[in-house]
Amino acid sequence: MKSSALAKKAGLEEAGSSTARPALLLEWYDGHRRVLPWRPPAGQRADPYAVWLSEIMLQQTGVKTVGPYFEKFLARWPDVTSLGRASLDDVLRMWAGLGYYSRARNLHACAVAVLRDHDGAFPDTEEGLRSLPGIGPYTAAAIAAIAFDRRTMPVDGNIERVVSRLFAVEETLPRAKPVIQKLAATLLGGSSTDEKSRAGDSAQALMDLGASICTPKHPACSLCPLSDACAARQRGGQESFPRKLSKKSGELRRGAAFVVTRGAELLVRSRPEKGLLGGMTEVPGSDWRVAQDDEDALKQAPQLSGVTRWHRKVGVVTHVFTHFPLELVVYTAHVPARTRAPKDMRWVPIATLGGEALPNVMRKVIAHGIGS
Ligand code: ADE
Repeated sequence: MKSSALAKKAGLEEAGSSTARPALLLEWYDGHRRVLPWRPPAGQRADPYAVWLSEIMLQQTGVKTVGPYFEKFLARWPDVTSLGRASLDDVLRMWAGLGYYSRARNLHACAVAVLRDHDGAFPDTEEGLRSLPGIGPYTAAAIAAIAFDRRTMPVDGNIERVVSRLFAVEETLPRAKPVIQKLAATLLGGSSTDEKSRAGDSAQALMDLGASICTPKHPACSLCPLSDACAARQRGGQESFPRKLSKKSGELRRGAAFVVTRGAELLVRSRPEKGLLGGMTEVPGSDWRVAQDDEDALKQAPQLSGVTRWHRKVGVVTHVFTHFPLELVVYTAHVPARTRAPKDMRWVPIATLGGEALPNVMRKVIAHGIGS
């Protein structure tokens, strides 16, 4: 009899066997889980609203940054009813600084839909969750597993890394995604008939393992509960998983931003509702183009009666969006009291800028333009 069969007969499992891994993972999680603001104490049911809110925030933002935003949102809007009744402007203002603002719009639209179409209760299946704004396949699986203990495994970047190493998946990303998804599902604890499947804990265990031990560089394999089962470790070269094709990032775009002050006020406008940073506040600027030249950008300055010349600040502001890096030249001007704002622009007191929905790139521009 093979040793794995013997171990099974004796009620023991080898770390490398497919049935042992989920249990080892959960055992590790029970002793090492991270304390995070959206996680209830061990053994307690998670509030679907809190799970959903955290998962939307975590879609493109790290755990450390999300923490304070999550707490601020929960303090102001403790349940889906209060959030659904809030104004979109208030939600966008509270979101300012987290980036990827379409998430805030969808967050609000989703809360409204849960109130309107689901009597204020989140659907408890992946399919039902996916019908809501802002909830794609990953987020639906995460909420279904964590809030409702559905046997499904959400696969984020951390889990992709852990699984691709554990099984030494040779296929490159993104083509490897379906196979990684299947392999990840084998790490769910319990069985489909088990009331206490702890699917959410299995998923969060993998997230924590990826964040703290199975890190992209220098993984701490000696601390890993799955190290005996890890195919990549057995071969060496864990860091080379997941396999990836080198990717070309978007081309650098350039533009100009105009920081105009009138006493203690700043000239701003709102971006179009649709598209990048939709509806957010910005200072007037040129369009952002790959082959933008500085003179063309300056021609797009706002027409203001009091401005005779623009002062170009030394240096540039850089920002990296998902699809392209951006470099902005900043021009400043001071205009006399009572100068009128051009069409679709407005003056706001600099002291109240914190209450505007200002994306990070604009915070940098304003700091560069107003700072000495
Ligand atoms: N990233 C996405 N969802 C998460 C969660 N629930 N816990 C930790 N990191 C996460």
